[in-house]
Amino acid sequence: MEDWSARQYLKFEDERTRPPRDLVAQVPLQRPRRIVDLGCGPGNSTELLVERYPQSETIGLDSSPDMLRKARERLPKHAFVEADIATWSPEPGTDLLFSNAVMQWLPDHTAVLRRLLAALEPGGVLAVQMPDNTREPALMFQGEVGRSGPWKDHPEIKAAPRDHLPSVEAYYDLLKPVCSHLDIWHTVYNHVMASPQAIVEWFKGSSLQPFLSPLDAAAREKFAAAYGEKIASAYKPRFDGKVLLKFPRLFIVAVR
Ligand SMILES: C[S@@+](CC[C@H](N)C(=O)[O-])C[C@H]1O[C@@H](n2cnc3c(N)ncnc32)[C@H](O)[C@@H]1O
Repeated sequence: MEDWSARQYLKFEDERTRPPRDLVAQVPLQRPRRIVDLGCGPGNSTELLVERYPQSETIGLDSSPDMLRKARERLPKHAFVEADIATWSPEPGTDLLFSNAVMQWLPDHTAVLRRLLAALEPGGVLAVQMPDNTREPALMFQGEVGRSGPWKDHPEIKAAPRDHLPSVEAYYDLLKPVCSHLDIWHTVYNHVMASPQAIVEWFKGSSLQPFLSPLDAAAREKFAAAYGEKIASAYKPRFDGKVLLKFPRLFIVAVR
């Protein structure tokens, strides 16, 4: 995945930080020795972990230098390392692997989840949240615009749409053999957005990125405009002009 823009991602920081807050609240650990925030981004999820576990050693890990720079500015006393989750393994003494809004980007993320969980010591926790929104209009429109414009034969744009997440049953069968306790649930958020254009801005910081980054500035603008038209046709203003962005997310808390 290309380098992500921390500035665009942080435009909706309050909304984006709610799922990791809900996830950290379900972690059944009192005082983990070492915590690693996998795909820490600009440090917003890391900050929640530091607040909940001030006595623990908390490390952030990300593959994006821009995100890591922001995270280091935010939490200068904490270590942030550049690494690829796909090949990284926890050191002994790591009690919590936390990953918010990241794993859905990894090829074959199910194998990565199982490998990371299996690498923990007994009692260690893997806590994961992933958007489960690929069936929502906002995501389907990205694929539709990708398939219909002058960019439709671009190999990176053809590869940009994310697959649907596997079923809850598939995650259960995958992870339960290597854990003592497993909790899997969904939460559907309804984010109040200022306008349909705000939905476009939201996704420019996440799932639109793989569609936009292969394009030049003019094509990017055209893509975003075509996407914005579709969004405006489907996300109608409420009585006060705001629009609701329905956002289902999948949560997993697994105890080794
Ligand atoms: C949507 S952001 C999530 C940021 C933060 N965890 C949060 O809760 O808001 C996804 C982050 O995952 C990182 N990422 C994606 N694939 C990665 C990989 N294979 N290894 C490490 N980091 C990765 C991206 O650079 C980005 O910072």
